[in-house]
Amino acid sequence: MDWMLQAVGQTQGLHPYIPGKPVEQLLREKGLSHAVKLASNENPYGASPKAIKAMQTTASEVHRYPDGDCTNLKSALADHHAVQASQILLGNGSNEVLELIIRSFAGVGDNVVYSQCGFIVYALATQAAGATQVAVPDTKELGHDLDAMAAAVNDKTKVVCIANPNNPTGTLLHNDQLQAFLDNLPHHIVVILDEAYHEFVTDIKADSLNALKHPGLVVSRTFSKAYGLAGCRVGYALADSALLNVVNRFREPFNVNHLAQVAAQAALDDHDWVMDKVERVKSERARLEIAFEAWGILGGKSYANFVLLKHPMAGKILNKLEDQGIIPRPLAGYGLASYLRISIGTIEENCLLLKSLHIALEQTSNI
Ligand SMILES: Cc1ncc(COP(=O)(O)O)c(C=O)c1O
Repeated sequence: MDWMLQAVGQTQGLHPYIPGKPVEQLLREKGLSHAVKLASNENPYGASPKAIKAMQTTASEVHRYPDGDCTNLKSALADHHAVQASQILLGNGSNEVLELIIRSFAGVGDNVVYSQCGFIVYALATQAAGATQVAVPDTKELGHDLDAMAAAVNDKTKVVCIANPNNPTGTLLHNDQLQAFLDNLPHHIVVILDEAYHEFVTDIKADSLNALKHPGLVVSRTFSKAYGLAGCRVGYALADSALLNVVNRFREPFNVNHLAQVAAQAALDDHDWVMDKVERVKSERARLEIAFEAWGILGGKSYANFVLLKHPMAGKILNKLEDQGIIPRPLAGYGLASYLRISIGTIEENCLLLKSLHIALEQTSNI
């Protein structure tokens, strides 16, 4: 069929995003009755009770379309960040926000610059927009090499993407490094500073909002990680109103559903709940990193809600963990075959992880 040939032509070279393995799949594959997913950097403590209640109360209204402009949520976010509502763009997860921004400013003949070890969606969204991917090799610590990224920028560059902290490597850039990079960029270049893991950063030198200056700066955030609403799909960007005016022309009218809007607003309002969970994750991050270090398998310091494991037989360790019902994330797709990314779970889940990892390491060293 002609339309099929046409579709195949258009999608050649496009790769789908590969998410973390679902629990049900591992249970089926291994014949297990219980498994712990530590592969998608979700909040292991669930969603804020206020957010759940807001969704329950609102469930009877879902026969109506949502507010296409997310008026109430935008206004709450505007107060939260002390910006105008027109400086906020809401999306179906920050994933949609990233895609919309890349598609709005880069197309055929344009370049998008990002780090080779940067979040994979930058590459996928660039490709889907028909623009050229410029993946810059990372530093030996698996961070963004800002000097090399600056050198990769040319007349064709329309967008630069930086994840801070980075997924999957957990590295962090400070404001002074970022501002020095921005100072050397032409003003028209859109820079996405993807802060999906911002809440897990303790370092005030990385508090970008109101500190960094660049006309095309877009800071993206999400309700999927610290706020525990990954399944609702809601994220947002903060940027200049005129820039977002352009992006809004590419946005579908009802891109954030009604339940997601009320849940996000309630979660934003439940500051103490969120901060309590963030503190637990940070203290567990320190515990896991100390254990990994002692076993000689720490892949680097992480500033996000996951830790990095490094081992020459990472693939085997992954299999041995899965045999015991633990699902980590392989990183071979990023060219990091000797690394695994492991999301920080509850205290009980992390104890189970350490126990299973100890067994996996022993078994692997006997192979
Ligand atoms: C760095 C980074 N940015 C953006 C996202 C997208 O998250 P969401 O679409 O759930 O907001 C993720 C998800 O893992 C991420 O790691």
